[in-house]
Amino acid sequence: MEKFFEKLESALKNDIMVKMTLSKPVSKNSDLRNIYIKPILLRDNKMCQFTYRYERRDETKNFDMAQTMEQVRSLVPETFQNVSLFTISEDVTLLVSKKGKPTMMCKKVQESREQDLSHDHEKQRLIDPAKPWWYLLGLTTREGKVLADMQHKFKQICKYVEIVDGVMRQTKFDDEIHIADMGAGKGYLTFALYEYLTTHYDKKIVMEGVEIRRDLVEKINEIIQKCQLKNFRFIENSIENYKSENLDVLIALHACDTATDDAILKGIRNNAKLIICAPCCHKQIRREMEKSGKTDSMTKYGISLERQAVMITDAVRAFVLEYCGYKTQVMEFIEIDNTPKNVLLVGRKSDKPVDKEAVAKQIKELLDQYGIEEHYLWKNLWKNCRTY
Ligand SMILES: C[S@@+](CC[C@H](N)C(=O)[O-])C[C@H]1O[C@@H](n2cnc3c(N)ncnc32)[C@H](O)[C@@H]1O
Repeated sequence: MEKFFEKLESALKNDIMVKMTLSKPVSKNSDLRNIYIKPILLRDNKMCQFTYRYERRDETKNFDMAQTMEQVRSLVPETFQNVSLFTISEDVTLLVSKKGKPTMMCKKVQESREQDLSHDHEKQRLIDPAKPWWYLLGLTTREGKVLADMQHKFKQICKYVEIVDGVMRQTKFDDEIHIADMGAGKGYLTFALYEYLTTHYDKKIVMEGVEIRRDLVEKINEIIQKCQLKNFRFIENSIENYKSENLDVLIALHACDTATDDAILKGIRNNAKLIICAPCCHKQIRREMEKSGKTDSMTKYGISLERQAVMITDAVRAFVLEYCGYKTQVMEFIEIDNTPKNVLLVGRKSDKPVDKEAVAKQIKELLDQYGIEEHYLWKNLWKNCRTY
């Protein structure tokens, strides 16, 4: 153990430590999963930044070199049993057994490594928490520091922007991009996308959040006005009744049950270039399946039936998008509040011809297999519309 601490002390003194992780908590009930440590330069002083990673939040503290040694000595092996130390020339692993026996392994590194002394705050973030709307939306302090209980949300927001950016970069747009976010709720994700696109895209961004709750719409529009954000507004309306002259990107995140279908329909009818949905609670198909009483080994048990209903609902949505000329992907989304609602349906309008008959057959076979008489989206695609 002492040999390891000597190595660490020497790495700190000689400025060769790249990073270090303390992991494998001794207490099984600990909320603290690991601590990530890296050297940083803080007002010209060499320090170590400790990131304490808890189940649902991170906390950071900075220590000078002597304090760092003290901290690590007090944490290993009492609180953490494993340490991985990376220096510019060597990887050092310390494993402490349950009985307290330490084992140290050292491996010379082949590739060239450098110390990165930048502070986390200096790293380029997709979303800037110091923007005034994040305070007004209740995610940060007035000084732009993300609130402890909002850190998980903030991470999700950044991840969301990263995913949507990836999808949008593969789509061709004109000089203006008109985006409608259906069932925009408290507006976190709408603001995040607006902020990111207006900062990183050399195009005019026109953003509309559609939300049925008047109180939310009024509150958000006040924030938009206060922050003087251009071409951005919330509209009090239902997804079904929303009308748009111009729609390039249709977004619907966690719109309940068939509200997701209404949003997809809106996108299809408006010929949106991109349709992005993260479906929420799925009730309609489950009811159909229960009504038919047709079960197989995949749907015999309640929970399997529930999950299969979700899979069928989203599979048919993907098929309907394909049917309407959208190249469709079903991908993993960010988890929201630990629920399994983590699917993202992405449809990108394509010029390639579609074998509609084949897609319709697939839909029919899937619905017939479980005795489902109607899928809300498939049924309503035909309503008031003969073009399909
Ligand atoms: C679960 S929240 C999701 C909010 C946001 N999109 C997100 O993912 O964080 C769903 C929102 O959709 C709104 N909503 C539900 N049905 C709607 C409809 N038919 N038309 C417009 N808004 C609707 C609700 O009022 C709620 O604010």
